[in-house]
Amino acid sequence: MKDAAPETIYLKDYTPFGYKIESVHLTFRLHPTATRVISKIAFAPNPEATDKRFFLHGEELSLISARINGETITPRPVEGGLEADVPEVPFVWEAEVEISPETNTALEGLYMSSGMYCTQCEAEGFRKITYYPDRPDVMATFTVRIEGDQPVMLSNGNPLTAGEGFVEWHDPWPKPSYLFALVAGNLVNHPDRFTTQSGRDVELNIWVRPGDEGKCAFGMQALKDAMAWDEKTYGREYDLDIFNIVAVDDFNMGAMENKGLNVFNSSCVLASKETSTDANFERIEGIIAHEYFHNWTGNRITCRDWFQLCLKEGLTVYRDQMFSGDMRSHAVKRIEEVLQLRARQFREDNGPLAHPVRPESFVEINNFYTATVYEKGAEIIGMLRRLVGDEAYRKGCDLYFERHDGQAVTIEDWLKAFEDVTGRDLAQFKQWYSQAGTPRLKMSEEWNDGTLTLTFAQSTPPTPGQSEKKPQVIPIAVGLIGPNGDEVVPTTVLEMTEAEQSFTFDGLGARPVASVLRDFSAPVILDRAMDDDTRAFLLAHDTDPFQKWEMGRMLTKDMLVAMIADDAAPAETALDAIKTVLTDENLDPAFRALVLGLPSEDDLAQTIFDAGQTPDPAKIHAARKSLRHTLAIHLSDVFPTLGRQLETPVFVPDADGSGKRALRHALLALETLLDGGKAARALFARADNMSDQGASLQALLAAGLGQDEIKAFEKQWENDRLVMDKWFMMQVSFAAPDKAASTALALTQHPDFTIKNPNRFRAVFGALAGNHAGFHAADGKAYQLLATHLIQLDKINPQTTARMSGAFETWKRYDADRQGMIRTELERILATPDLSRDTTEMVTRILS
Ligand code: PHE
Ligand code: ZN
Repeated sequence: MKDAAPETIYLKDYTPFGYKIESVHLTFRLHPTATRVISKIAFAPNPEATDKRFFLHGEELSLISARINGETITPRPVEGGLEADVPEVPFVWEAEVEISPETNTALEGLYMSSGMYCTQCEAEGFRKITYYPDRPDVMATFTVRIEGDQPVMLSNGNPLTAGEGFVEWHDPWPKPSYLFALVAGNLVNHPDRFTTQSGRDVELNIWVRPGDEGKCAFGMQALKDAMAWDEKTYGREYDLDIFNIVAVDDFNMGAMENKGLNVFNSSCVLASKETSTDANFERIEGIIAHEYFHNWTGNRITCRDWFQLCLKEGLTVYRDQMFSGDMRSHAVKRIEEVLQLRARQFREDNGPLAHPVRPESFVEINNFYTATVYEKGAEIIGMLRRLVGDEAYRKGCDLYFERHDGQAVTIEDWLKAFEDVTGRDLAQFKQWYSQAGTPRLKMSEEWNDGTLTLTFAQSTPPTPGQSEKKPQVIPIAVGLIGPNGDEVVPTTVLEMTEAEQSFTFDGLGARPVASVLRDFSAPVILDRAMDDDTRAFLLAHDTDPFQKWEMGRMLTKDMLVAMIADDAAPAETALDAIKTVLTDENLDPAFRALVLGLPSEDDLAQTIFDAGQTPDPAKIHAARKSLRHTLAIHLSDVFPTLGRQLETPVFVPDADGSGKRALRHALLALETLLDGGKAARALFARADNMSDQGASLQALLAAGLGQDEIKAFEKQWENDRLVMDKWFMMQVSFAAPDKAASTALALTQHPDFTIKNPNRFRAVFGALAGNHAGFHAADGKAYQLLATHLIQLDKINPQTTARMSGAFETWKRYDADRQGMIRTELERILATPDLSRDTTEMVTRILS
């Protein structure tokens, strides 16, 4: 079949499939270029469906034969699959197809990575394996036979039998095709066991390529912690005899929750102190938990259709965030979440790619695995919990699990569980799922004789396809701090439902300072007039760690914006306030490190754009650099003492150790601006872990130094792919603005660069897009370089190409010259013959 014009799919058009599946039997005869897939599927008419068309999805399959009830038939090929005439009673469909995993570079369906067979089916990859109703609302039990000579051959569920040249697996839990998985190759395992709360003994394995066995222990511990946490926190127990995790080098995303057989990008599971930074450890722990938690939120209860993606993703992100908070520090985790939400989701929500958490249409579903679906989706769960309270939240979840186990459901079903448990009407709350854009919340206050009145006005700017916005339910967590610094009113959640609304606090002695949007209680932009002294006061006295950090952030941000606008000198109040926090030994070092962090250049560009001006990337870069220098001088007297207090002689990747290192590394980066690289070189030379080694190298690169060290690093790590990704990435991330494009280009000539491996491609080009001043250098070279490589990559891997085209989503912020250059590149991409549906949709939306 040749590609037709991309078709738009609408949520409102949903209809159930005309047939149910009783069971699926699959046989795989593995071969790199000619794998045979033999399917035997028992169908029965679905009484709930009116449309009885028997259509099976199928792409890039060679059909060898098809039978219905044992009789050979000739199905009709149609766009995206085939059709056949079938009986009106239960029948058995059999088909044999041939596929070529070795030439599958899109990494969707059955493909090969470093000699091993591996599948990726979410969202619509199963149709590249065999003909099937490849939609999440068709759930079935699978029995899989794998024939081949690979030492390890895995699929979902429990092992049934194994013999010479074959293995069989059976998954007793009905699942949609997107959760199917097969892995076969020369793998070694890191084994363990877990006993569930009801006494079920579960075999656990992490499967890796020989040589990586030593990098599994941390992931295994994270898995066991996640299993125990889900029992304790949500009452959810694991439901098979075995749980397998496999690490693969070539993977488009982070990881995949296939039932009983999670497949991970090796960067999201392999960990060792020598090769992984503290941030890597934290991320690995979170992703392992995320995929495991999907077993209930996603697998046992799945999505009716792909518009409901946030049903499983938003909820599962929320669950992994809470897990990480429990494992580490809730305060630090919350600040990291907000940083990430603002950097990715707010950015998306304020540009041409803005879409609701539950979109109403799409061309290519792969383009909707977004920060909005995942992260704003998680924020919605957090708001729901705030509104109903902890107890009702747990009851609602219990009811949801009980009511919908084994089903494919919708956001309406999810919310109904909470309405039934609380008696609340969640109709207005549901708008969070349908309305795109980040709400702006304007606050004003009035003090009158012991009464403080806070007035809020909400508005959401127009987004593509949505010009009018309705008021949303916004939980605003507020606390009041008295003039002496004591908290006079503890955190209360105000429930805003109107476009404009006032809330009063009375019986107050003296005028307090309001701490508003504590714990970032809603994903909104708060607009509130506040002077530097008030901010410094809250930075010193607020009991809410998020707001405390937020005040520091606002101080530095305003300082930077003023420096960019009129080359103003940094304000002393702000510098002193930061220094006070930095040296406060009662505060967690991880928190202090976050306070020392400056807003990113991209964040500053958006802020300037929102204020009605055109951001100048070079100026932003220069101002930030100058503030870092000023901060370094201002803090130089505390470097020696603090540095010593923060030593961690033994590397433990926990909250305490990583927090101390984070602060020490932040200080080192500043110190390197003053000492010519002495301290950083010393740390680089004695580092016994990647956190110290990477941070010292980055400090040097950021100061324009480190050329010898970058060579030494390459020599040391040339045989470690994941560390080499860091090597590629750092050089581009920290390149000076006028060198970013040429550095990236030179790295593409390196023998270890390959466009086929998504991690490596992202290391270079993700870093280029993330180097704000470098990407937006006035000569437009970086735009051209990225576009050229996206055009090449589209032929190989459309999903990763489309995802990375998001680098251009902010183009309308910039001046006419830059806009013109970006438009030229976007149009050049779009004019490429046979451009994928994925990339066509993304670039078209970005241009619109
Ligand atoms: N469902 C995966 C997750 O959230 C992400 C994913 C989507 C992976 C599509 C691969 C392909 O954990
Ligand atoms: Zn997920």
